[in-house]
Amino acid sequence: MFGRRGNDDRSKPAFSKPASAPSPAAPVSGAVDSAPARQAAPAAPIPQPARRTVEAPPLAAQPAARAPRERSESYYDTKSQVFAALIDTIDLSQLAKLEPDAAREEIRDIVNDIIAIKNFAMSISEQEELLEDICNDVLGYGPLEPLLARDDIADIMVNGSRNVYIEVNGRVEQTSIRFRDNQQLLNICQRIVSQVGRRVDESSPICDARLPDGSRVNVIAPPLAIDGTALTIRKFKKDKLTLDQLVRFGAISPEGAEILKIVGRVRCNVVISGGTGSGKTTLLNCLTNYVDRDERIITCEDSAELQLQQPHVVRLETRPPNLEGEGEVTMRDLVKNCLRMRPERIIVGEVRGPEVFDLLQAMNTGHDGSMGTIHSNSPRECLNRMESMIAMGGYSLPQRTVREIIVGSVDVIIQAARLRDGSRRITHITEVIGMEGDVIVTQDLVVYNIKGEDANGKLIGEHMSTGIGRPHFWDRARYYGEEHRLATALEAMEKRAD
Ligand SMILES: Nc1ncnc2c1ncn2[C@@H]1O[C@H](COP(=O)(O)OP(=O)(O)O)[C@@H](O)[C@H]1O
Ligand SMILES: [Mg+2]
Repeated sequence: MFGRRGNDDRSKPAFSKPASAPSPAAPVSGAVDSAPARQAAPAAPIPQPARRTVEAPPLAAQPAARAPRERSESYYDTKSQVFAALIDTIDLSQLAKLEPDAAREEIRDIVNDIIAIKNFAMSISEQEELLEDICNDVLGYGPLEPLLARDDIADIMVNGSRNVYIEVNGRVEQTSIRFRDNQQLLNICQRIVSQVGRRVDESSPICDARLPDGSRVNVIAPPLAIDGTALTIRKFKKDKLTLDQLVRFGAISPEGAEILKIVGRVRCNVVISGGTGSGKTTLLNCLTNYVDRDERIITCEDSAELQLQQPHVVRLETRPPNLEGEGEVTMRDLVKNCLRMRPERIIVGEVRGPEVFDLLQAMNTGHDGSMGTIHSNSPRECLNRMESMIAMGGYSLPQRTVREIIVGSVDVIIQAARLRDGSRRITHITEVIGMEGDVIVTQDLVVYNIKGEDANGKLIGEHMSTGIGRPHFWDRARYYGEEHRLATALEAMEKRAD
């Protein structure tokens, strides 16, 4: 049982995780490291000034619940009273040392006592809700908890304390989730980033972090975010989509998927291009499924998302600088190091900068089948982006040389897009085939044509062949004994078009 908090406790900084713990999964404040990891979040004290104010109305606890249950003013009133009494009773730093389940039990016991002592009139279900709410506030991420528990959400976007949006099925919708105030929101952000040894406040207002479940987090705080802290979470999906599922969703046609499988297998060098949330990482993950099991693969990511099925994989992750601004390991450092690790394929989660040069070098020095994703809106733009990212690296190579390097390295660009109806589609499978003068020549194998819109505003479209019977990578396909499969897929796509 926890003793009453001493006064000195109150003056402790709210987030006291030592800055030196770099591992996101590292147990915090001596808490026993146990799954589910998210629950193991440090129970940082709720800031004192705000604790007697009315709580934010959270969603009902069921993960699937869409509409928040309306709650009466008296519920919030009771909750803030119980909450205040709880904070007075327990020592939160002690609580943080418990296993999450034990901590929950402890809180439940105390809250039940408080309700009994103060004689609050509540139904059993109200009491349950209250317990759940309070546990979420003390142990977890407060109003975010019900959203984090839902598997159907791809992104959570918090714009200040009063506007919380989510993306479900490709559509962005507003929720009725609110934070008590900007301070509560900032504290929750703080709690998240402190787990990876980082800090977010006025003096360092931008921060990337990760939840223990692998979800990617970005926080930008005031004064940079004018209307209150903006928090963006790309939720980690445990069950990654497969290429067959993408076919079922219509993201790619069955024949198109067949071509992608062959591209993955026969060690084409691939760049996946697309906007934010268009499905690049998902696609990269799908393609890696078709890599042979005996290949040595090294992956480099900012935050490990890929889930390769092969046995011989080395996974590397970049590291942001610590609080003193030291110890950063960039993507470029990783990709360079990879080359000394005898890789057969190098896979770069997200190519953003000069590491593109090292990846291209890897691609044309015997590491065929290397892959990466690039943020761009068309295959042509992707080529331009690669050029400018090489320039960012400070190389003063003639433009033509840069283009020759790109042509010599990249075989296929796969373009992903999130269309205006929220659906995600592979819009191009494009080959990079050579140079004509100073211009890079490409040819599309598959394109997605939008034909119209149905009554519900859903776009209608089709993946079409461009009539190319012999792709540039034909010989490569033949070398791997895949030419018949390739020909069959191309023919089937032609027939469909007729
Ligand atoms: N074809 C698709 N259909 C439906 N959802 C998809 C599809 N591709 C990706 N997603 C989902 O969209 C979200 C963003 O995908 P992700 O691959 O991380 O995008 P990116 O890497 O381009 O930012 C994920 O939740 C993923 O599961
Ligand atoms: Mg991604």
